[in-house]
Amino acid sequence: MCGIVGYIGKQKAYPVLMDGLHRLEYRGYDSAGVAIVDEKNNLVIKSVGRVANLEQKIGEKEILGTIGIAHTRWATHGKPSDRNSHPHQDCTGNISLVHNGIVENYLDLKKNLEKKGHKFKSETDSEVIAHQIEEFNKKLGYEESVFETLKMIHGTYGLAIVNKQEPDKIIVARSGSPLVLGIGDGEYIIASDVSAIIRHTQQVVYLEDGEVAIITKDNYAVKTIKNKSKDKEITNLDWSFDKAEKQGYAHFMLKEIFEQPAAIEDAIRGRLIVEEGMARLGGLRTVAKELKKIEKIIIVSCGTSYHAGLIGEYMLEEYAGIPVEVEYASEFRYRKPIINSKTAVIAISQSGETADTLAAIREAKNKGALTLGIVNTVGSTIARETDAGVYNHAGPEIGVASTKAFTSQLSIFVLLTLMLGRQKDMSLVTGQRIARELKKIPRLIEVILKQDKEIKRVAKKYAKYTDFLYLGRKYNFPIAIEGALKIKEISYVHAEGYPTGEMKHGPIALIDKDFPSIFIATKDSVYEKTISGMQEIKARGGKIIAIATEGDKEIAKIADDVIYIPKTLEMLTPLLSVVPLQLFAYFVGVAKGLDVDKPRNLAKSVTVE
Ligand code: G6P
Repeated sequence: MCGIVGYIGKQKAYPVLMDGLHRLEYRGYDSAGVAIVDEKNNLVIKSVGRVANLEQKIGEKEILGTIGIAHTRWATHGKPSDRNSHPHQDCTGNISLVHNGIVENYLDLKKNLEKKGHKFKSETDSEVIAHQIEEFNKKLGYEESVFETLKMIHGTYGLAIVNKQEPDKIIVARSGSPLVLGIGDGEYIIASDVSAIIRHTQQVVYLEDGEVAIITKDNYAVKTIKNKSKDKEITNLDWSFDKAEKQGYAHFMLKEIFEQPAAIEDAIRGRLIVEEGMARLGGLRTVAKELKKIEKIIIVSCGTSYHAGLIGEYMLEEYAGIPVEVEYASEFRYRKPIINSKTAVIAISQSGETADTLAAIREAKNKGALTLGIVNTVGSTIARETDAGVYNHAGPEIGVASTKAFTSQLSIFVLLTLMLGRQKDMSLVTGQRIARELKKIPRLIEVILKQDKEIKRVAKKYAKYTDFLYLGRKYNFPIAIEGALKIKEISYVHAEGYPTGEMKHGPIALIDKDFPSIFIATKDSVYEKTISGMQEIKARGGKIIAIATEGDKEIAKIADDVIYIPKTLEMLTPLLSVVPLQLFAYFVGVAKGLDVDKPRNLAKSVTVE
């Protein structure tokens, strides 16, 4: 992960870089650093902790210079410290670079360089790149030295390099870690993702793996790692700067929870055809023929996106009659999955850059599967590498804990279920019923959001507990694990998500008055069984919070606290039941005084294995 930003142009680089770092801070916030270069200086300042710590260190000092690079770190090799912060430099201090990724063969390279007299200052893998360039530069020109170094690196990188001896350029390179080049008016901004660019320009070039860009004030050239020129398409972004701002909300996470009705509307707009009980997904048109022949679907994803996949499995199997497997991408890539040309492998990813998911898709492609993506970030690697796909159109998600991307992913699964189901056995009437109910979901979420004060009250009451058991059955089992994940991420509280029916096979041993359970107990086909589970907990003195269907008065007699959600079709319930759990986790985190947008040790986009 880590966030990289670079600027070359007519403005002072420092403020642009700092603004970019703040926007990329969700990618890691163990330390931050900046290098500003001109022919006299290569000024490098770094600080452990947040970008704000770096700014504090720099204080009122005016930093001149119109070329620079900066970095916000998520530590992999070497603990968070000033010393291990990027930018890293060679022995002469001429070359500075920022790196996102892992140099897998850094120990070999380091040993070799040390033998040649190079002195290392950090414990990182990244520093070897600067020394290796320096080593080549003793005999070769600077650019050539960079190309030669890149050829030696095993692993992944998004890199930005400056050199005091050739201070009019930034060299960037990509292999496995994202990099985007923003093309402004007489200026260029490079960044790990577009959120650091959209304030300056909407014109971007997405670099591909194995590409290097040499950027000067007036021009840029993209080359392959073998130093051959490449023509690149310029993409016009459709994300406005406003969308990436907090707009009065205390946190991005809260804003994004409240954006869910709009995000779902954007996901289904123009795609859901209620009268026909059908969905049209333009992004899948090119593979329509192959899709008709599909006999099995494998969904690969990580974190919250994995939980969306589990619900997608229930929907697709029940209504489209297609066998579905859902796999953690990190497991899939190392297993021996049974795949053929009649298998569709669907990657779900908000960022479109998660390394494990990307590797899983590459593996599936090698094995001859049809690869599809459900991706939020336009132009991201997974979106580009899959055969076809569907964009979420949820807009930028900045809060590290995923919220609106999740419900948007669920909406896309409903659309996919309609599309594939109607091609098979699903009747027009069933299709119409699902489509009609899906259309109502944004309004129903608004009803839940209006109860935010009540959910905050319940959250405050339970904020002192250190353990929670989340339970749900059938469509709401994945919501139980998603609810547990949210509170773990945001509030650092131990929580387990379990299928209600499994609770009696182990977790019930944990229950006492200090270990509350959260039941998703909506009126659906498994309601009675869920109530039995609640009684079992109650009988053992456990406290209960229930997420229940509006009008269910009986449940209040068993549960200590009840949060009501509107009624909908059983398959759509997860789109509603997750919302109070997102708010619950958020308010517990806030009550504990935690930084909910940037929880410790996490990063939004995990581009390392
Ligand atoms: C990280 C984030 C999670 C996210 C997961 C998958 O772990 O912290 O919030 O769900 O990655 O990310 P993706 O971008 O592939 O959906």
